[in-house]
Amino acid sequence: MRVVSGIQPTGNLHLGNYLGAIRNWARMQDDMAGDGQCLFFLADLHAISMPHVPAELHAATLEMAGALVACGIDPDRSILFNQAQVPAHAELQWLLNGTARLGWLNRMTQFKDKSGKNREGASAALYTYPVLQAADVLLYQATHVPVGEDQKQHLELARDIAQKFNNDFGAGEEIFTLPDPITPPEAARIMSLRDGTAKMSKSDPSDMSRINLTDDADEIMKKVKKAKTDPEPLPSEKAGLEGRPEALNLVTIYAAVAGSAVDDVLAEFGGQGFGSFKPALGELLVETLGPISARFRELKDDREELGAILARGAAKAREIASPTLAEAYRALGLVRG
Ligand code: TYM
Repeated sequence: MRVVSGIQPTGNLHLGNYLGAIRNWARMQDDMAGDGQCLFFLADLHAISMPHVPAELHAATLEMAGALVACGIDPDRSILFNQAQVPAHAELQWLLNGTARLGWLNRMTQFKDKSGKNREGASAALYTYPVLQAADVLLYQATHVPVGEDQKQHLELARDIAQKFNNDFGAGEEIFTLPDPITPPEAARIMSLRDGTAKMSKSDPSDMSRINLTDDADEIMKKVKKAKTDPEPLPSEKAGLEGRPEALNLVTIYAAVAGSAVDDVLAEFGGQGFGSFKPALGELLVETLGPISARFRELKDDREELGAILARGAAKAREIASPTLAEAYRALGLVRG
């Protein structure tokens, strides 16, 4: 079993990232108990696909590494690194560009969302971004990739690329393992606190739309209190949340954080209004996120230590990547001397 996943080091780590992906990373690492390997990385190469400030990228990468450690990623048990220190990611992307089809990339909804109306002005990197993501996991023969629902389409593309590459160039052998996405059933898609139909996102201009892992107790309580809702009381069963996306989102968050099902939360709060549900949700979030943000504050300024963690992780990642990259070159008939 080899678990591989990544996160872009731009903006704040928010509740959607945590519940949709990072909490699962930590759980998979803890469950592994020496029987397999976890590789987690900061997708700094992906970050240049959108306008960014070069002077801030390195600091943001170190800070996000600190946030992951605060969430329970243990650099002694998992391999934690940033893509830019492992050139094999960019190399394999180029090799896979020969296999990925334009028709496949044209279907990617994230490109459509991120390029918006100005598609002609989007970077080529934004367009080929999913091929780099395929390289990220195929390079390590990943078997499981824990992600939120928004990344599932990219993972399907990675499988298509792997399958076609194996068929076209494998001469009967499986050069790349087909990875399985792992999404948490109750938190695959956490929505904005301001709009229950839009996902919680780092790029939302309103900070009130998300809970950041760095928010203090007052900010969390304020954001939950101001979260958009409707005037109806909570129903006692999930079916009653249909057509009420904001209510569904808050109950889903409660269930995900408490480790229970939406129906259990409704069994407890059904019939009550948001005036009593919101403070309960806020307190649960403060209790859960408080220790993580405290640990993050301790770690985030130790740039030397975080840099050393990433350097150690990158050295291990380069070693694991090397045979698969060599095999991909060889399969394509490319001679490296
Ligand atoms: P990124 O940085 O946008 O998000 C990191 C992880 O958080 C999940 N996530 C969410 N889950 C539930 N609800 C939400 N509102 C929410 N918002 C974000 C994402 O699904 C993701 O798992 N392209 C990727 C990074 C990446 C990657 C990879 C992931 C690069 N290479 C290889 C897996 C494998 C991204 O931008 O995620």
